[in-house]
Amino acid sequence: MSKVLIIGAGGVGRVVASKCADNPEVFSEIMLASRTLSKCQTIAREVGKGRIQTAQVNADNVPEVVELINRFKPELVINVALPYQDLPIMDACLETGVNYLDTANYEPKDEAKFEYKWQWAYHDKFKEKGIMAVLGCGFDPGVTSIYTAYAAKHHFDELHYLDIVDCNGGDHGKAFATNFNPEINIREITQKGKYWENGKWIETEPHEIKKELNYPEIGTRDSYLIFHEELESLVKNYPTLKRARFWMTFGQEYLTHLRVIQNIGMARIDPVKYKGVDVIPLEFLKYVLPDPGKLGEHYVGETSIGCRIKGIKDGKEKTYYVWNNCSHQKAYKETGTQAVSYTTGVPAMLGAMMVLTKKWNGKGVFNVEEFDPDPFMEKIGEFGLPWQEAANVDLEL
Ligand SMILES: NC(=O)c1ccc[n+]([C@@H]2O[C@H](COP(=O)([O-])OP(=O)(O)OC[C@H]3O[C@@H](n4cnc5c(N)ncnc54)[C@H](OP(=O)(O)O)[C@@H]3O)[C@@H](O)[C@H]2O)c1
Repeated sequence: MSKVLIIGAGGVGRVVASKCADNPEVFSEIMLASRTLSKCQTIAREVGKGRIQTAQVNADNVPEVVELINRFKPELVINVALPYQDLPIMDACLETGVNYLDTANYEPKDEAKFEYKWQWAYHDKFKEKGIMAVLGCGFDPGVTSIYTAYAAKHHFDELHYLDIVDCNGGDHGKAFATNFNPEINIREITQKGKYWENGKWIETEPHEIKKELNYPEIGTRDSYLIFHEELESLVKNYPTLKRARFWMTFGQEYLTHLRVIQNIGMARIDPVKYKGVDVIPLEFLKYVLPDPGKLGEHYVGETSIGCRIKGIKDGKEKTYYVWNNCSHQKAYKETGTQAVSYTTGVPAMLGAMMVLTKKWNGKGVFNVEEFDPDPFMEKIGEFGLPWQEAANVDLEL
């Protein structure tokens, strides 16, 4: 029986809140706080089952978060606001001695460069305080990292090649929309590509490397090599990896819109003066694009995300593929939001459950692959994200 504070009332916050409210035996009291109180109240009313309290907080402001934590006294803070808030919320957790969990690593607002170094630097402070921070517990990072840990534990003696494959085979009926926060999403996918090979990072131009990959129940989709944050911690935690890459599907229409957005300067993150006021074009763009949390109603099709791994077991080469397919419609019927928010929010809730029930233990800052994957893999299907696996199949990579 534990109290949990959820910060962030977007698409992902809605799913986390809904799933925590479904499980009162672990989450005995739930507070949902965010910058805009009315968004918390809507979520509490629509999916809270009468079990969610709400509060307003600006999570960029450490004293405000500290005050809220001291008032509510949670055992764990689930941060599903934006990556910019990771460090202030971690500071507040340190000051109050409360555990922390998030789904995306920190990036500074003025530079589109996400890395774990800022959060890993908190390890000793969290350890000394006797609390834990769980980093990257969404789907990717999150479940993909746990799939890798599960494969390493049960299927391989050594991991050699890891390809994380992320396909959104759904259609929301809009000309252009992002599936999670547009500002964060566009910053992520317009960066240069990067992958790990033979002990070093290799950089590519954005979307330079493409492959046609076949996804279960979806079919063949153009898949582009991009950099994704879990690669950074996975190559550190699995040093036998000779190569680690991340692939994401994009349709031609999506890429055309993205190119235009960049060409006309709307992806810029430096301020421009508009009528005497500083405006950041990408921040403004967020307000004219569709709200990702509201795409669900007309979204059809499925996501398919998994890990394709080659390595050695008992002296022999082996391949292994583990994945989840998630239906946008099914996610919408259950929580009122689409599969991208759903596949992020469910693992965040389950990661929180792992911490609160002491299945995941430790003092310091951890990426999810550092914990035992088994109790998480046992439960994730029951909470809506069942996984499938196949050994010794053609990985296409
Ligand atoms: N690991 C994964 O698989 C994965 C996948 C998708 C997304 N994510 C991550 O999940 C997080 C949430 O995504 P989302 O799609 O739910 O985003 P979203 O819809 O934009 O929601 C973000 C929420 O955070 C709130 N927020 C922003 N700044 C705040 C501040 N200073 N103080 C308090 N609250 C603040 C926003 O408040 P307002 O409503 O007032 O703006 C909004 O309610 C992001 O960090 C994203 O990167 C992870």
